[in-house]
Amino acid sequence: MSEARLAIVFYSTYGTNHAMAQIAAEAAREAGAEVRLLNVAETAPKEVVEGQEGWKAQADKMADIPVATPDDLVWANAYLFSAPTRYGVVASQLRAFIDTLGPIWQEGKLADKPVSAMSSAMNVHGGQEATLLSLYTTFMHWGAVIVAPGYTDASIFASGGNPYGYTQTAGEIGDEGRAAIAHQARRVVDYARRIAA
Ligand SMILES: Cc1cc2nc3c(=O)[nH]c(=O)nc-3n(C[C@H](O)[C@H](O)[C@H](O)COP(=O)(O)O)c2cc1C
Repeated sequence: MSEARLAIVFYSTYGTNHAMAQIAAEAAREAGAEVRLLNVAETAPKEVVEGQEGWKAQADKMADIPVATPDDLVWANAYLFSAPTRYGVVASQLRAFIDTLGPIWQEGKLADKPVSAMSSAMNVHGGQEATLLSLYTTFMHWGAVIVAPGYTDASIFASGGNPYGYTQTAGEIGDEGRAAIAHQARRVVDYARRIAA
């Protein structure tokens, strides 16, 4: 079987995308992929993070997770991104990381790799799809190969029916959501192998 090296790059303020990224990592590892679970650097001022109990507690919880670097994206042959919706677009912390990738983008190191994205929002119509589509615009600039889940598995219908990528609407991730995330992660791993073959 061809080698799949998946970089799961996430940002999470309150824990939802962290949990989603962990579910994806577990599924991808079970599928035989080598996985790096990576956070992105917090860009909000320390006093803002520490001024919110929930935000600080989550930051403490993620303290041991490595922060993504461009080298991680060079290493990987597949990508899965996960970050919350903020005012209808993706959280700026993830964009700040993406904006450091110019040099490796110019060298073509982001091209020809399968990529997929997940998000979360407070509201069903609060910008979930728009957030994923805005990330996919960036991935097209990379020449990456967008691997959206589409309606390729029953779990997509059962978990809210988002064909662009799994999105969590406030609250706990249920069994249907876990299944949809696992399916999306396995699909990216599968495409990494197909491309490498
Ligand atoms: C500054 C800010 C802007 C937000 N904007 C939106 C929004 O446009 N639509 C929406 O449904 N939820 C919005 N939310 C809710 C977040 O999407 C929600 O907190 C997030 O999905 C939780 O993910 P996390 O637990 O990984 O941080 C916003 C939250 C914050 C703090």
